[in-house]
This record gives sequence, structure tokens and C-alpha cells, in this order.
Amino acid sequence: MNESLSALRVNSERFRTNFETLAAIGATPDGSVHRPALSDAHLDARRWFVERAKRIGLDARVDGAGNHSAVLRCERAGRPTLLLGAHLDSVPYRGRFDGALGVLAALEVLHVVKEHGISLNTHLEAIDFTDEEGNLVSALGSLALSGQLEPEHLRNPRGGRDRFRKALRHAGLSESSLFSAGRDPATVAGYLELHIEQGMRLVEADLQIGIVTSIVGIRSFRVRFIGRADHAGTMPMGNRLDAAQGASAFTLAARELVMKDFPGCVVNVGNMEFEPGAFNVVPQVVAVALQFRADDDDKLHEMEAALLKQASAEAQRFGLDLETEPLDNVGTARMNQNVREAFANASEMLGLKHTSLPSGAGHDAQSLAQICPTGMISVPSVGGFSHSSKEYTEWQDCVNGANVLLHATLMLAQ
Ligand code: GLV
Ligand code: MN
Ligand code: MN
Repeated sequence: MNESLSALRVNSERFRTNFETLAAIGATPDGSVHRPALSDAHLDARRWFVERAKRIGLDARVDGAGNHSAVLRCERAGRPTLLLGAHLDSVPYRGRFDGALGVLAALEVLHVVKEHGISLNTHLEAIDFTDEEGNLVSALGSLALSGQLEPEHLRNPRGGRDRFRKALRHAGLSESSLFSAGRDPATVAGYLELHIEQGMRLVEADLQIGIVTSIVGIRSFRVRFIGRADHAGTMPMGNRLDAAQGASAFTLAARELVMKDFPGCVVNVGNMEFEPGAFNVVPQVVAVALQFRADDDDKLHEMEAALLKQASAEAQRFGLDLETEPLDNVGTARMNQNVREAFANASEMLGLKHTSLPSGAGHDAQSLAQICPTGMISVPSVGGFSHSSKEYTEWQDCVNGANVLLHATLMLAQ
């Protein structure tokens, strides 16, 4: 890279102003954001993003899956596009860095390239993917863009089909428009994503940049324990078919099972819905939101079998029926070696301490890795908190990450 290019840096103040402005959209009193995919706050954030892009002189693009992009075209004809991005949606009432940092860093990279009139060999596109967090369908936008969206993904959206269709309509989308977002892999030169680490490794090792090696596989199930509703005062304890007992026993057993037999893997019961859900009625049904993750697809498969067997054993123990409904199924993804080297070289050039590490969080990069050279970097999360109102990353770390993204982009797009 020539000397004038290697001296380039993102504009920290401009980047921060964008970050703060965006964080005000859907802001909550505790400093978090509430921008579930396709909610009003999320759509406002997306409108702000494309307006900002247009003001910089970038082209705006919205595809059939609602993915919102800012595009900087290269002058050469027939060139592919290097995508940079993440997501502007959030989990409910939680951190302002998760996803937003990657989208705004991508926008800042395009801004720097444009204002310096740098000529590249690929188009650059800063993209905000739809519903990374799975308010409706996990990684909906990146699955659609990478041509992996199947009708099956739309069969069981979180919150049901009616809510899903209503949310799509609200955003000017439809189930059929989603499938039009698929891109020809030959037109995609690669995908780069900056994200907060959401773990403690970088902070503990006093390092500034994590270069992601692989991303965990994730499976989710709705597990329904089904018993019988009864009067909570009159039905003797020994005669009840209490769905809450099976669901609770399973929650405790799942933790023990994973800690004992699947070290390094994780399981989460994130929600329980009780029916009918009253103080004075023995619960007839408890629907458990179960998710588990592993860094290897075989292990994920074994975990699934072991956890469902455990659920069945707990149901039997309390005389309950069991129904299991598979939801997300995302395989592990390895990051591209060339992209990892570009990130390492950019970090070295910038004098930043870096390491390689796997990601325990899911990302749109998992979808993109199926169709193009894909890589991710992470920057330190104070205390390792994320999906939490405690989520925080020092601004200098955000800037460091954006500079690595900038220089890796320049290396890969020339
Ligand atoms: C996304 O944040 C996930 O890992 O669930
Ligand atoms: Mn997240
Ligand atoms: Mn994220």
C-alpha cells in the first residue's frame, strides 16, 4: 500500500456523532436501545441511515428483504461488490453497540474512500441486514441476500405467522419480495464485519483487535410440556399433571448435562410461556424457548439429541406430553484465510495488538460465508457484557476497529 493510503484514518468525531445520533433512535432511559426488527424505531433508524448515505453522496439501495445499503460505485465496469456491514436492529431494550457499530463503521469507511477520491477495483457497499437478532426470523436479511432463505424459514417465525406478515407489510415487504433479494455470488467480492466482542477475552488479555476464526452453530427449539389445567387449591399435589414441573426440571437438567458432557458449549432457556398463566390454575402448557450453541456441527447434532432426550425424560417423570418444534438451525462458519490475513496486516500496520478468536455470538457473516470470502473483527467489550444494558466499548476501541476495517478494505478492494 502506498504511503498516502497507509496514513488514512477514519474521522473519529464524525463517526461518533453518527453513533450518538443513531443511538438516540429507539433510546431507552437507561442508555440502551429498543429497535426490534421492523418496529417503528428500527425503520426510523434505517431511514436515518440511507438519508445520511445520500447526504454523503453515496447511492442508497433497499432490496426485497429490506436490507438497507449505502453504495460507493467504482468506475470500472463489471466489477463485483465488497460488502461491509452488520445490523441496526437490536434485542429488546439492550445495548447500543451490537450491530450498530459495524454498520456505522462501514458507512465511515465508504465516506473516507469517497472524500479522498480513492479508486478501487470493487464497488463498496455498507449494508444493514434485516433482523439479525431474530425478532421474527433470525438473520432474515443475510439469508435472503445469500440465496439461502427457504420457505421453511418462514413457516415458524417468532411470534407466529400473523405477526410476521403484519411486520413485513408495515415495512413495505412481503414474503415473495424476500426471495428477490438473493444475489449472484459472482457479484459479491466478499463480506467484512466489525462487531463488539461480546465476551471478555480481549479485555482480559489487554488486546485491541480480535480476528474471528469461526462462528458458533446455533439451534433453537420451542419445547412444549403439556399437562392438565386444574384448580390450584383443590387438586392434591400428587394428582397433578403440572407442566411447570417438567419445564423447570428440564431447565436445570439441561444446564448440568451441557456442563458435564459438552464442555465449552452453551445452552439457554430464554423464555417460558405458561398457559393459562394464572396464580390459581395448575399450568396446562409451558412452552420453553430453548437455544444451544457449539463450535462444531457434529457436537451441535449430539447436543440436540441429548437435550431432546432429557426433555422427554423430564416430561415422562411428571406424566406430561412433549412437543418439540425446531426453529433456527445455523451451522458453524469458518472465516476466510485471506480476509483474516488482511485484518492481521491492517492491525500490524496500525500498531494494534491483535489475536485470533472464535465467536460465540451469531452474526450475518455466517450467511455470507456460504457465498463469498468473509471475515470479522471484534473490539473489546468492557466486562464482556452484551445483550445487556451494561454493554459498553471505549470509543478509542471503536475507532481502532473502524481503522482496521478501512485498511483491510483498501487491501482487499485494490
Ligand atoms: C446474536 O446476537 C446472537 O448471537 O444471538
Ligand atoms: Mn446481538
Ligand atoms: Mn450483533
